Amino acid sequence: MSKPLEGIKIIDFTHVQAGPACTQMLAWFGADVIKVERPGAGDVTRSQLRDIPGVDALYFTMLNSNKRSLTLDTKTAEGKEILTKLIKESDVLVENFGPGALDRMGFTWEHIRELNPGMIVASVKGFSEGHHYEDLKVYENVAQCAGGAASTTGFDDGPPTVSAAALGDSNTGMHLAIGILTALRARDKTGKGQKVAVSMQDSVLNLCRVKMRDQQRLDRVGYLEEYPQYPHGSFSDVVPRGGNAGGGGQPGWVLKCKGWETDPNAYIYFTIQGHAWAPICRAIGKEEWIDDPAYMTAQARQDKIFDIFAVIEDWLKDKTKFEAVDILRKFDIPCSPVLTMKELANDPSLRASGTIVEVDHKERGKYLTVGSPIKFSDLKVDIKGSPLLGEHTDEILESMGYSQQQIAALHERRVV
Ligand code: COA
Repeated sequence: MSKPLEGIKIIDFTHVQAGPACTQMLAWFGADVIKVERPGAGDVTRSQLRDIPGVDALYFTMLNSNKRSLTLDTKTAEGKEILTKLIKESDVLVENFGPGALDRMGFTWEHIRELNPGMIVASVKGFSEGHHYEDLKVYENVAQCAGGAASTTGFDDGPPTVSAAALGDSNTGMHLAIGILTALRARDKTGKGQKVAVSMQDSVLNLCRVKMRDQQRLDRVGYLEEYPQYPHGSFSDVVPRGGNAGGGGQPGWVLKCKGWETDPNAYIYFTIQGHAWAPICRAIGKEEWIDDPAYMTAQARQDKIFDIFAVIEDWLKDKTKFEAVDILRKFDIPCSPVLTMKELANDPSLRASGTIVEVDHKERGKYLTVGSPIKFSDLKVDIKGSPLLGEHTDEILESMGYSQQQIAALHERRVV
């Protein structure tokens, strides 16, 4: 079956996580993604946090599947010549170097456009062009702090906290993928390429929009009723950290289940959905609350929401997180066990759906990786292992018209 992005050639000048996550997804959907890496070293994640000496680290293998690897020193004249040829025959160039690196290499947007007017140049930077921090190099947690996630995550009595979810990295990569696909669609209509730029700060902020909503509500009314600080605590003039409170109009919290004293993940997330009040009361054996004016509306419950959670926790104390959810799901209550990475890795549903897949790597053997979270009716996404450093250098150069002798000479001079 042909893949939707087949025929799209991508020069993948990305490293670490934000860029690679983007190009990996495009590779899954059929694009020919050529990862361009420095000879001898490659993407720094190949050697970061290694679990097997001398073998590409999982950090790399989990972000670079389905790609081909070309080693190329783009700071040499011959390297620039090869890159120039590649640009002329490709559709997209994706990069997430530090600010100005591509220009310093001699490949400005203007120059690339001259070489190939249909080229889409897609970039990730920490901050957007023209921003007063545009010169900064940025990693994940820096972006979470700059984009509003850290100041609003954690508990009121603790410091700003970053999330384990890669809001700055992979999230930015997903935004970039949407930008690239949009630019490809535009090119179908006009024949022209364009520059697509996504900043990590903007991408984090895009996911923190409810906190921007809350800032404006706070400015107007001085309190936020769904935060644990209300009604007994106090608010300053900035959105506080809300702990585990639900971010919408439905109060929620992480609640202890059987075994929490020894198992740090024996918890469920429980949501008190307004219209599910009666089923909740039935589920936890508090039918008397259903029509009690002190409990029957969300407003009436607000000042005693933590007392209500305490009652639910009492009901949970002889149930494991899985048993609790199995009961609550029958009452249509939005909830989930707090799942560990180990539980997720072994979850039969995630294996069956292809969300977690086992793939083969030439040196590492089998390893687990995350498959496509997007499911299609007419596309089966096959996840392959990541390429070794320079694994496809010769075949790519040959397809560009270089002879065996020329390729050997390029190797000798360490251009590739
Ligand atoms: N051949 C020759 N040189 C190469 C090369 C190749 N194939 N690939 C990269 N390089 C060079 C670049 O030209 C650049 O050189 P220069 O600074 O002398 O011009 C250098 O390698 C790479 O620089 P940089 O990307 O700034 O690397 P870094 O390790 O100092 O910084 C980041 C890493 C991630 C902080 C930085 O790239 C960055 O801020 N990127 C944008 C935001 C981002 O994506 N962050 C990471 C999210 S996971």
